[in-house]
Amino acid sequence: MAAAVAERSPLRIGAGYSFRRAYAAQTYANRARIDVLEIVADHFFDNSKACRRELDLLAEHFILLPHGLDLSLGSADGLDEAYLARFAEVVRRARAPWWSEHVAFTRAGGIAIGHLAPLPFTREALEVLERNLDRARRVIGDLPCALENIAAPVVLGGAEMEEPAFLRALVERTGCSLLLDVENLHANALNFGFDVDCYLDALPAGAVVQLHVAGGEWNGATYVDSHARAVHADVWRLVERVCNRFAPKAIVVERDEALPPFDEVLAEIERARVILMQAAVCR
Ligand SMILES: [Fe+2]
Repeated sequence: MAAAVAERSPLRIGAGYSFRRAYAAQTYANRARIDVLEIVADHFFDNSKACRRELDLLAEHFILLPHGLDLSLGSADGLDEAYLARFAEVVRRARAPWWSEHVAFTRAGGIAIGHLAPLPFTREALEVLERNLDRARRVIGDLPCALENIAAPVVLGGAEMEEPAFLRALVERTGCSLLLDVENLHANALNFGFDVDCYLDALPAGAVVQLHVAGGEWNGATYVDSHARAVHADVWRLVERVCNRFAPKAIVVERDEALPPFDEVLAEIERARVILMQAAVCR
């Protein structure tokens, strides 16, 4: 079993953002203000010389955290081996301290469903995740991985446990770490009305190695995790609480739509870094 992040990467890394090519020039120009870059692995699957050179150049200048969107670790019919091979190649070239994916599925019966779909929180789903993660690790190699909670559009029936108990069991069975998306947690708590403190109490504290923060918006009565707004004040307050509890190693700001001037992204990275480091001082 691959070692958990805490064993392999003892140092706190800092704050950064999920790399977007539209910001490439500003990213290099401000690299002293960016501790880490998450890269969406799928954006680097193009095997052209230019794409490989782009990834190598990023890896020369930044700590990279490859993040997958479509590995579909929750698929009962197993992983797409061609996708897995391309994902593993990006992870290898990124020379990353860990890689990450979602507690979700994006394919069923060979059909791509086009978004991250929630898993039922059952023992059967845990077995599927364990089996697929084991296969992924055989190809990717001995590198820690962190799995992320998603913003769920619905709560599935038939659950045998709540999400944090499911995540705890996943960590215990597989030795994976957790990428806690604080915006997703915020969105789910608003939409489904659960208590965030109870959720945090039930998580395996030592397993949370990375956070995502992002901005969402209301669409009628539903809070949508759109990644198209500045991080909400409530989410920053939750990030502070999470950092004081779990002392994660890195925080990544996600901004996918309505890209603002890069200074706004840098300001959010700086705010995340301050929270992370102040939490470290308190411990
Ligand atoms: Fe996320």
